[in-house]
This record gives sequence, C-alpha cells and structure tokens, in this order.
Amino acid sequence: MELTPRLKLAADLCLPCERIIDVGCDHAYLCLHLVERGAKSAVASDIRPGPLAAAKEHIAACGMSDRVRAVLCPGLEAFGPEDGDTVSICGMGGEMIASILEAAPWTAKGAHKLVLQPMTAGNKLRRWLAANGYAVEREALAREGDRLYVVLQVFGGRQDGCGSENHYLFTEKLLTDPLFPEYLEKLRLKYEKSRQGRASAGLDTAEEDAVLKRLEEVRHGA
Ligand SMILES: C[S@@+](CC[C@H](N)C(=O)[O-])C[C@H]1O[C@@H](n2cnc3c(N)ncnc32)[C@H](O)[C@@H]1O
Repeated sequence: MELTPRLKLAADLCLPCERIIDVGCDHAYLCLHLVERGAKSAVASDIRPGPLAAAKEHIAACGMSDRVRAVLCPGLEAFGPEDGDTVSICGMGGEMIASILEAAPWTAKGAHKLVLQPMTAGNKLRRWLAANGYAVEREALAREGDRLYVVLQVFGGRQDGCGSENHYLFTEKLLTDPLFPEYLEKLRLKYEKSRQGRASAGLDTAEEDAVLKRLEEVRHGA
C-alpha cells in the first residue's frame, strides 16, 4: 500500500504499533499500510457511511478483512483503551481533533500513542494539548506539491516541558526538520496576510505582530 508523503509520515510516526485505531479512515489506506508494515490488526473508523463503504471494499480487495475491521462511528465513541495501543486522527481540522480527544478522556492517560495530523488550526490543537496534559513527543513535516503538512506524535499523561513563546506554532522538535525553513516562511506569509487584513479593518494586530517578531527571531537563530 503506497501512501502519499503526508500519510507516509503519519504511518512512520505510528510505528512501531500493534493495534491501531484510525479515526476518519476514508479508504483505510493508513490501516492497510500499517498492517503491511507489521501492525497485528487495525480498526478503520469513519463517521460517514460513504467513506466507510469505500474502506470496507478496499480492505476486502486487499484480502485484509481478517486483520482490518471497519467501524462506523463518530470520533472514538465506539472504542475504549483496550481497543488499541495507537490512535491516529489525520486529515481533519485541529479543533475537530481536539474535540475527538476531549470526548475520549482515556487518550490522556498516557497508555496510547496518538498520531495527529491537523489540516488547519495546528496552533489551537497544540494549545489544547498542552492545557489538557498531552505532550508532543515528535513533530515532523511532509510536502505534497506546494503544501506542507505537520504531523504530531503525542502522549497523554505528560507535562509538555516546552514553554517557549513559539510552542503553539511549532515545537522545538520541528526546528531540525529539513523542511522547517520553508515552513517558517509559509507561517510568516500567513501571519503577514492576517496582520494586513486586520490592520486595514482597523482591528488590533498585537497577536500577529508578536508572532511575526518571534518568527523573525527563530529565522535568525535566536
Ligand atoms: C479529509 S478525510 C481524511 C482521510 C484520512 N484520514 C487522511 O488523512 O487522508 C476526513 C475523514 O474524516 C471523517 N470524519 C470527519 N469527522 C469525523 C469524526 N468526528 N469522526 C470520525 N470520522 C470523521 C470524514 O468522513 C472523512 O472520511
């Protein structure tokens, strides 16, 4: 099962794992790939019947129905801590990922590896994780075309030791990623655009100014 760079990075941050629950599985690509790479079993779950039907078909076509189970449910509602050692939630907004974890407090106990790939609002997700006892263990970037995607490997039950100002934009673990300079520039452009929009609407730009200042310091190695 060949994956795109984004999902391949998510798979790399899941491994090693024995039993994976993939929330929002779509075609079950990630589950199938992980089982091929050594996971004993996987649960591919999705909130919508369409993607789940596609997942079931795909699992059967790969001859993996005995090892990859498809479950229709919102978030982690159908699962408990005993159902897996690893949980992945990829390709959703950061706020949705946080709300799925919030509804499953067992993910905060530290017994599970969580692999999270926010498409948007990564800063809000990081803030929520730090405030709720989850720590980012690893963080890395993948590129697909012009887009960069961030993937976080997270554990509950730990205090995140990183209290730096830029913590919510990226953790220290990302600083050595080969794609980090490019990511920094994308963040700068995003916050610059936001600052200009707010300034022309007569709104306060203090947050954008602080972020832009910090990005500039990071760029110069401060
Ligand atoms: C953009 S796709 C991402 C698919 C795959 N995880 C990936 O990263 O390529 C988002 C999937 O998440 C599912 N989804 C959205 N909200 C969900 C929720 N609360 N619980 C479970 N699945 C959800 C959607 O139905 C859709 O199949």
